[in-house]
Amino acid sequence: MSKITVLGGGGWAIALAMVLNDNGHNVTIWSAVNREVEALKTHRENKISLPGVIIPETVEITNDLKSAVNGAEIIVMAVASSFVRSTSKLLKDLIPNGQIIVDVAKGIEDDTFNTMTEIIEDELPNCDAVALSGPSHAEEVGRKIPTAVVVGATTKETAVKVQDAFSNHYFRVYVSPDRKSIELGGALKNVIALAAGISDGLGFGDNTKALLITRGMKEISLLGTAMGGHTRTFNGLSGIGDLIVTCDSKHSRNRRAGVLIGQGYSLEEAVKEVNMVVEGAVSAKAALNLSKKYHVDMPLTEAVNDVLFNGKKPLDAVNELMNRDNTSEHVDLLWK
Ligand SMILES: NC(=O)c1ccc[n+]([C@@H]2O[C@H](COP(=O)([O-])OP(=O)(O)OC[C@H]3O[C@@H](n4cnc5c(N)ncnc54)[C@H](O)[C@@H]3O)[C@@H](O)[C@H]2O)c1
Repeated sequence: MSKITVLGGGGWAIALAMVLNDNGHNVTIWSAVNREVEALKTHRENKISLPGVIIPETVEITNDLKSAVNGAEIIVMAVASSFVRSTSKLLKDLIPNGQIIVDVAKGIEDDTFNTMTEIIEDELPNCDAVALSGPSHAEEVGRKIPTAVVVGATTKETAVKVQDAFSNHYFRVYVSPDRKSIELGGALKNVIALAAGISDGLGFGDNTKALLITRGMKEISLLGTAMGGHTRTFNGLSGIGDLIVTCDSKHSRNRRAGVLIGQGYSLEEAVKEVNMVVEGAVSAKAALNLSKKYHVDMPLTEAVNDVLFNGKKPLDAVNELMNRDNTSEHVDLLWK
């Protein structure tokens, strides 16, 4: 069994560390946040993000990055997306060429439009960056509830190595060569999750939720394919799968922030109340800029941006969306 190091001490880092520990690996958890390391060492539990999941003594917990990554066959990047670049920089002189780094953070950098593995490769050009994504709440993986994700890598060999490391009876891992679409799906669904939350906050129902999921998926897929991705991946676990789970789950912080915004909170007030990073807000700006760059019409993404950043009232945004010109569901499907 291998040494595998998980960077980050939040809910997802711990849930994945438990999967890897259950698979018999020699697991180390590292965090840059000293008080988090101390709390994890004292309680063997992240009482805030993943209460009830006890980290066994076989898992090492440290704030010493050099010793944490020394000899690790796989490094798992499980910090919040806003810290992926700074954490990658810290690894610069500590890892060998070809180091496998599995990113599980979801987001798009707003100034570069980089996905998380692209940020990692930018900082660490000789590493082997992999994306692991899909419908997978830490709260449920921590309870060993059957879950499936997909791993995207540049070679099949690496993808299968990561698949073998993570797979078990409650965590099923598929592989794919389409890393870019996997990451775009994971990041862009957070924008639509904000819209789904806003819809719930406004008191709308299942019809509106289904509308948002299907038309939101259409926007993600149109942008993703314009950027070189594959429709089939957007129709898979990391696309529609993750979108469904995020738009309808009590665990989704993006959806919860959206609910508050639908109820009249500003973005700042909602983020403060949720008390966690709302990654969809960063991805919303990036998605809008990407839609302009690739000339893709993304009305839902535009409306979310207007509500989050331009002071538009959620109900006004809904009225504008519903009163757009009539059109076909799929403009590329032609009449006989
Ligand atoms: N929670 C989930 O169910 C889940 C599931 C799939 C993917 N993800 C993704 O995984 C990533 C981590 O999510 P999360 O829920 O575990 O926690 P999170 O997004 O709240 O991340 C917090 C973690 O980031 C790390 N961090 C904070 N400040 C830092 C700093 N200055 N430098 C380096 N690291 C710092 C800390 O370890 C902290 O626990 C996110 O991108 C999220 O979208 C989460």
